[in-house]
Amino acid sequence: MLSFATVFLASIVGSSLGAAVNNTGLVDTLRDAATAVDRVNDLPKDSQFVFDFFNPTAGVSTGAGGSVILANVASFPAVVGNGAAMAVGILEPCGMNTPHTHPRATEIQFNVNGTIRTGMITENGGRFIMTDLQPGQMTIFPQGSIHFQINEGCEPALFVSGLNSEDPGALQIAQRFLGLPPDIVAATLGDIGIEEVMGLNDLIPDSVALGTDECLQRCGITRTSQPTTQQQTRVSGNAFPSGVTASTYATGYQSAPTTSSKSH
Ligand SMILES: *[C@@H]1O[C@H](CO)[C@@H](O)[C@H](O)[C@H]1NC(C)=O
Ligand SMILES: *[C@@H]1O[C@H](CO)[C@@H](O)[C@H](O)[C@H]1NC(C)=O
Repeated sequence: MLSFATVFLASIVGSSLGAAVNNTGLVDTLRDAATAVDRVNDLPKDSQFVFDFFNPTAGVSTGAGGSVILANVASFPAVVGNGAAMAVGILEPCGMNTPHTHPRATEIQFNVNGTIRTGMITENGGRFIMTDLQPGQMTIFPQGSIHFQINEGCEPALFVSGLNSEDPGALQIAQRFLGLPPDIVAATLGDIGIEEVMGLNDLIPDSVALGTDECLQRCGITRTSQPTTQQQTRVSGNAFPSGVTASTYATGYQSAPTTSSKSH
């Protein structure tokens, strides 16, 4: 199936990101403007008020399971001073926007098509909330909540999200948590070994990632090797100790898993 999303993602990869627009100077100008009128007049072209999610020149995060495209202060400077941003998720079959938070925004998510499962925990003590959004339905992720979205279907699915910050930010839970000092992570997890921490870190796929075994099996999709470019950068404070070798884990993509209990 040459799906919409396949064509779409190919067009992103094949086109524009290498030539991503640098809006830094324009954003500085807009932020320095004395009034909102000045800001409007600092954007002389009508096209500066259009962001094309299906042909973006910036703001794209891609993994093996799809993409999230974000129109924010960097990719769409017309939002400067307006406190709003918008994201579109293109989730391939079983594609999962991995658990994350937005440090500066509440998100309201509208499901365009497909069935998109969402899950959320708002804070310590808050119960887990899960939805299976049908086309035309929406949900809300309060600022700071941990949430995820997964396409439960075997066709691509689309969602649209409004965010009440022009710079909502995103914090991917697995990448950031495993990016803390390895002895801190090991102790937090009940004293697993540093080798295990290193091994787990090495596995974390970029978002949008391939989702659950159940979905992949139902849709007849083989789990493939996924890019891992979103892991936390190591500096001296969170460095892996020298002379320690990461544990290796079964990654599940050499052969289709047959049970829900994997070796890790
Ligand atoms: C973007 O442009 C600004 C100056 O307007 C410059 O300081 C910055 O380094 C540029 N960033 C990139 C990634 O080229
Ligand atoms: C959702 O819309 C996209 C774009 O038109 C299309 O490729 C995809 O197949 C649709 N998914 C479903 C489940 O209808």
